[in-house]
Amino acid sequence: MPLQNKKILLGVTGGISAYKSVYLLRLLRRAGADVKVVMTEAATEFVTPLTFESLAESPVHVRMFEGQGKSKSQGGTTVSPIEHIDLAKWPDLVVIAPATANTIAKLVQGRADDLLTTIVSACESTVLLAPAMNDVMWQNAANQDNLRALSDRGYRVVPPETGDLACGYEATGRMAEPETIFDVVRGQFESPFAKLRVLVSAGGTEEDIDPVRVVSNRSSGRMGFAMAEAARDMGADVTVVAANASVPAPAGVRIINVRTSAQMALALKEAFVDTDVLVMAAAVSDFRPVAPLEQKKKSEEKWTLELERTEDILAGLGAIKGNRMIIGFALETENLESNAMEKLRRKKCDLIVVNDPRTEGAAFSYPTNVVAIYNAKGLLYESDAPESKREIARRILSLASREGAFSKITVS
Ligand code: CTP
Repeated sequence: MPLQNKKILLGVTGGISAYKSVYLLRLLRRAGADVKVVMTEAATEFVTPLTFESLAESPVHVRMFEGQGKSKSQGGTTVSPIEHIDLAKWPDLVVIAPATANTIAKLVQGRADDLLTTIVSACESTVLLAPAMNDVMWQNAANQDNLRALSDRGYRVVPPETGDLACGYEATGRMAEPETIFDVVRGQFESPFAKLRVLVSAGGTEEDIDPVRVVSNRSSGRMGFAMAEAARDMGADVTVVAANASVPAPAGVRIINVRTSAQMALALKEAFVDTDVLVMAAAVSDFRPVAPLEQKKKSEEKWTLELERTEDILAGLGAIKGNRMIIGFALETENLESNAMEKLRRKKCDLIVVNDPRTEGAAFSYPTNVVAIYNAKGLLYESDAPESKREIARRILSLASREGAFSKITVS
């Protein structure tokens, strides 16, 4: 069984989707997990503790100091009077589903005013959140900032889905389906990427000509973000260095925003130290103005702008890669294979993903792409039609996990 003997603490907070967590509990139990359930008082208004208790086959914990003053036996373990500390030490993984905006906010602040938040404050295991709330609450800047802060601290987020809300209309905010959350839980233990630190660059850098004009490219950030999402869903700890992306960044990953290639180089070099796998999906400007102007350039009939090469970030990181795995990208309009293989070798990539931006369905702003993926020995995969960038991202990571370099990565 995939989750045999895995210890999972299921936190249920007060939302209508608490009923779906009953099914999640069943999936976890069926997969062999040992589950302890902690509910907030508000959650008990939606589903009774007895429902969870019957499926978990162990008592549901709701209030602080329930076991105060007496040691008692629970599921083969003795629970001491300081129950929240025992519960905090116990799990391999904490799953909070549904996670309300209120509980998310409390976790950001480190508040410990109920049993669940007290346990999480004292717990060193990974915490997975499945937020569920009204669509406006979900979009609320405070809630988005809170989730970003928790992601930065290593919390995993299974984003809510779009569909019928309890409010009676269709929007984004309802909790991910139990099967989806279950897959992410499984991914935390089973996936070859579980606990690996993946660093992704995304978007396109820009280089100043003067205070208002830039040299840039048309990258949207979609491919890099799709790689980050795929790695996140496979249980990796993901950091994204994003430059000028025109699409929203995914939840549940750490984001470092940069603008220029020099800023991107700096951010990547710093993060590379604590990285197992680098995915270099950003379109880094190859050139920058030799002498950016301090004042806005006035119009002239003709003007020549002198450009110089920017630092090749990937080649620099490739030179100090050690046991890390590197996945590069390449844009080519001719001799795809030979140019890609040359870049793979020169930049010390383990895999390189190539596309021709002139191909139908593979342009910069498209949600789809048409790619060829190579390792040092040659072609591994070629799209025969446009595929979604998410699908391509999953394929790249699955191919990466079969590479020899991958097995040399040791999880720290
Ligand atoms: N890259 C980089 N730093 C640069 C330019 C590119 O790190 N200054 C990275 C890209 O993120 C990508 C890979 O190198 O992963 C290949 O990018 P590409 O633009 O195809 O190659 P270049 O090295 O710029 O070569 P050319 O433009 O001459 O084809």
